Amino acid sequence: MYSISSENTSSLHGEITVPGDKSISHRSLILGSLVSGRIEIFNLLESEDVMATANALKTLGVSINKKKNSWEIYGQGIGNFYGNSHTLDMGNSGTAARLLMGIIAGSDVEATFTGDQSLSKRPMRRVILPLLKTGAIFREPEKSTLPLTLRGSKIPLPLTYISPVSSAQIKSCILLCGLSSLGKTTVIEPSLSRDHTERMLKFLGAKIETTQLEDMSWQISLEGLPDLKPLDITVPSDPSSASFPIVAAIITPNSQIKVNNICVNKLRMGLFKTLIEMGAHIELTNEREIGGELIADISSRSSNLKGIKVPKSRVPSMIDEFPILSIAAAHAEGNTIMEGVEELRYKETDRIKAMCEGLQKAGIETMDEKDKMVVKGKSSSNNIKGGVEIGSKLDHRIAMSFLCLGLTTREPIIVRDTETINSSFPGFMNIMNKIGAKLQNVSKKKLL
Ligand code: S3P
Repeated sequence: MYSISSENTSSLHGEITVPGDKSISHRSLILGSLVSGRIEIFNLLESEDVMATANALKTLGVSINKKKNSWEIYGQGIGNFYGNSHTLDMGNSGTAARLLMGIIAGSDVEATFTGDQSLSKRPMRRVILPLLKTGAIFREPEKSTLPLTLRGSKIPLPLTYISPVSSAQIKSCILLCGLSSLGKTTVIEPSLSRDHTERMLKFLGAKIETTQLEDMSWQISLEGLPDLKPLDITVPSDPSSASFPIVAAIITPNSQIKVNNICVNKLRMGLFKTLIEMGAHIELTNEREIGGELIADISSRSSNLKGIKVPKSRVPSMIDEFPILSIAAAHAEGNTIMEGVEELRYKETDRIKAMCEGLQKAGIETMDEKDKMVVKGKSSSNNIKGGVEIGSKLDHRIAMSFLCLGLTTREPIIVRDTETINSSFPGFMNIMNKIGAKLQNVSKKKLL
């Protein structure tokens, strides 16, 4: 098990690129395996989560090869997986597990999904319920966590499903299953979650429509059995990974950085909108489109922040960014109130609990209620004590968030079990150090 220490840093400067977007990378491998023909994927995120998806698809018989500058996939067409005793190890990745369950449900194949300690505690009922209605069979239908064994059907029933939560994983699972059904599959969600599946399907030639209903919920409808064209995909950089250096520059004095080629899909922009409302200097430049996604470069610099109440409607567009927002909030003047965030309890760890406990240890007051979290900001970085050791709880975003906090605290912060960072952001420490951060590996005996 590795640990990283983060020390007070005088300033951050420079221009960097962070790795490819995790959500788009999973989807490019999955949809690439369903086209009829060969595609190449450029800038695929080579992280543990994404490799869990790649390895599962290889287990299912898809030919996926790493080339010098790309990944090559020979798609097998829709609904063409077969076999009876596949074991698919999803590691730490909820996205891999839930999306691939949709794929298995839409093929005449049986597979057992397994995961690490963190993933094995996460709720799967949210995808089991809709998949049961398409004709999928779960060997233990009452069970709601991994390991789970699932048998799909070659021609799943087309489904209309009203999802109680806005979740791109639930939506994508159902749509991916619906690809091999004969009719129209419809998902309705309370507010729109990230739409990378829909965009990529449209880019590859599927008929898919998104409309807002009278009650303000969103309806996504897909025609089954589309002819998916073998088009190459370029993955833009991940805004969730970019949020760490961007926030680090905002909270560290005398800092200015630029992060290039970021996916700025508006359903991922909640954190940057919130930071700008809090007073952060953030600028988007060089906006352009690649493969159906909007891309831009994002600059940020040291800023004085004020606490705000984050609108509930914005939560899905920043669902992965609450840990790093709470680090920014610790540096704001006044309280930052995050409501309607119960979903954070079902991520790689209970993120409300993990952030509140860690921040309190570091000297920041917080409040943890059922679906609400409040951070009482200390306005100036010199006010935060630090000098603590924080466990990652197998959650990459908890680990990276506290390493960003350590850049501004009086005493260093040590984060334990940092291997988990590789699930989404390989090279995190080097990229942060390239702009001037003081992160270093520490051996056991050097721990606080
Ligand atoms: C993801 C969707 C989000 C997010 C996760 C990636 C995806 O989960 O937290 O990291 O790629 O679809 P939910 O949509 O379930 O909230």
